[in-house]
Amino acid sequence: MNITFIGIGNVGSALADHLAQAGHQVAIGARDPQSSSVVAAIKKNHSLRCLSPLEACELAEVVFLATPFQANPAALAGLETALAGKVLVDCTNPVGAGLTHPLPSGSGSEQVQKLVPAAKVVKAFTIYGYENFEDPRYPGYGDLKPAMLIAGDDIKAKALVARLVEQLGWRPVDAGPLSSALHLEHFCLLWIKMARVHGKGAGFVWAMLERS
Ligand SMILES: NC(=O)c1ccc[n+]([C@@H]2O[C@H](COP(=O)([O-])OP(=O)(O)OC[C@H]3O[C@@H](n4cnc5c(N)ncnc54)[C@H](OP(=O)(O)O)[C@@H]3O)[C@@H](O)[C@H]2O)c1
Repeated sequence: MNITFIGIGNVGSALADHLAQAGHQVAIGARDPQSSSVVAAIKKNHSLRCLSPLEACELAEVVFLATPFQANPAALAGLETALAGKVLVDCTNPVGAGLTHPLPSGSGSEQVQKLVPAAKVVKAFTIYGYENFEDPRYPGYGDLKPAMLIAGDDIKAKALVARLVEQLGWRPVDAGPLSSALHLEHFCLLWIKMARVHGKGAGFVWAMLERS
């Protein structure tokens, strides 16, 4: 599958590397091909192609958005048509002062959807630190996989993202429509507080246990 990344820093480079290793054709839609994040991602995985954001989105079937939340309007400007009908995986999190949710109402993902109304936005890969995207393995738990909560309104788009989530070693858990992204964003704030403020460190995730 042709997959494009807008934003290739901590989160983008970890996911792009694993998706390329899984056999996908992965491109970076870079505003600056010489930026340190682009150079580092290509150094990590030489198969990543660097194109302009427009070219990279035009050829993609799925686009990952992994930019700082406040950069989203600039990062998506001019890409509305190229993203129409495509799956846009929103990896971004709005994080406010003191690790609060900074938006007056609704979720960051719903704001992303407003920026590119014809794209099929699915929130995924947001509730843990990037270290867990670099290495999602938690040996010693048998078949139990770490859970990756996803949210989105388009059922087929969500199913496609769920398959990618699974390929990367996670158990996809459907958390509901895109409005549920708000709760995933709070989940992320909890994870950051536990891991980075209260000293637990980045090496933990959640799993889902269900009665059959
Ligand atoms: N860090 C984590 O553990 C983590 C975990 C889950 C979710 N998230 C969320 O994921 C997103 C990315 O986090 P990160 O840690 O990967 O950030 P990062 O390492 O700072 O990388 C940000 C990337 O976005 C690009 N970018 C910045 N402004 C841009 C713009 N206006 N247009 C196009 N590209 C732009 C940067 O490119 P340049 O090199 O050109 O600046 C860089 O490639 C954030 O929304 C964050 O909240 C982070």
